[in-house]
Amino acid sequence: MGSDPKPATSTQPEIRILATPPELFHAAADELIDQAVAKNGKFSVALSGGSTPKSLYGLLAGEKRNVVPWEKIYFFFGDERHVHPDHPESNYRMANESMFSKVPVRPENIFRVHAEEDAAQAARNYEQTLRAFFSLKPNEFPRFDLVLLGMGPDGHCASLFPGSTALTEQRRLVVANWVEKFKTFRITMTFPMLNHAACVMFLTSGTDKSTMLQEVLENENADLPCQRVHPINGRLLWMVDQAAASGLAR
Ligand code: 6PG
Repeated sequence: MGSDPKPATSTQPEIRILATPPELFHAAADELIDQAVAKNGKFSVALSGGSTPKSLYGLLAGEKRNVVPWEKIYFFFGDERHVHPDHPESNYRMANESMFSKVPVRPENIFRVHAEEDAAQAARNYEQTLRAFFSLKPNEFPRFDLVLLGMGPDGHCASLFPGSTALTEQRRLVVANWVEKFKTFRITMTFPMLNHAACVMFLTSGTDKSTMLQEVLENENADLPCQRVHPINGRLLWMVDQAAASGLAR
């Protein structure tokens, strides 16, 4: 099995290394379920897009379906592509096909980004959705119970890409962020949003991520977006498999 989780401190990430991808996704599913079960009242989670979490969502909707407290979980998205919700690139579509459509989650518990709109307008609207759900005062950031993130091959997370303007945003909850390499806008939560979470859980799998994971976790001279995720009063949990962790010092 994986290594024992390192004791959580306010600054150091907890790194859990699981031997195989299935063990990684089981451990991540159990972590989410345990947190949701333990929470009194609503459990708010911001989902990640991309391909890695698809296996987690499939596990939650499949083998773990009957132990997930669906009625108390409220689903948001850490970022979204600037596309229609039924577009193949849509993070909402991926989550809906792999999970929502297969489980007894109420539609009113799902808050997708209306990314079919103008990107800046979609970001403003999503901010309003968050302010209303969390009953925020002006300049207040919501405290998500759990934020799921992936790590891109360039060290990005959510849609906070190297060199993009959203990296320095400190006031907004959600912004439209131009991503030059894709020549498109993305709608993304900002670092202050992510860093107000009670727990941020990265999911990283595969040898193709090993070099970047080593950079992110062990090169303090690097300046990678993933390295800017440090929950202020929360847990930072890296759930990785052996293949992704192969470059880490032991
Ligand atoms: C997205 C995600 C993005 C993703 C990373 C890793 O919208 O694509 O939010 O940040 O998590 O790019 O993607 P993979 O899991 O596919 O490697």
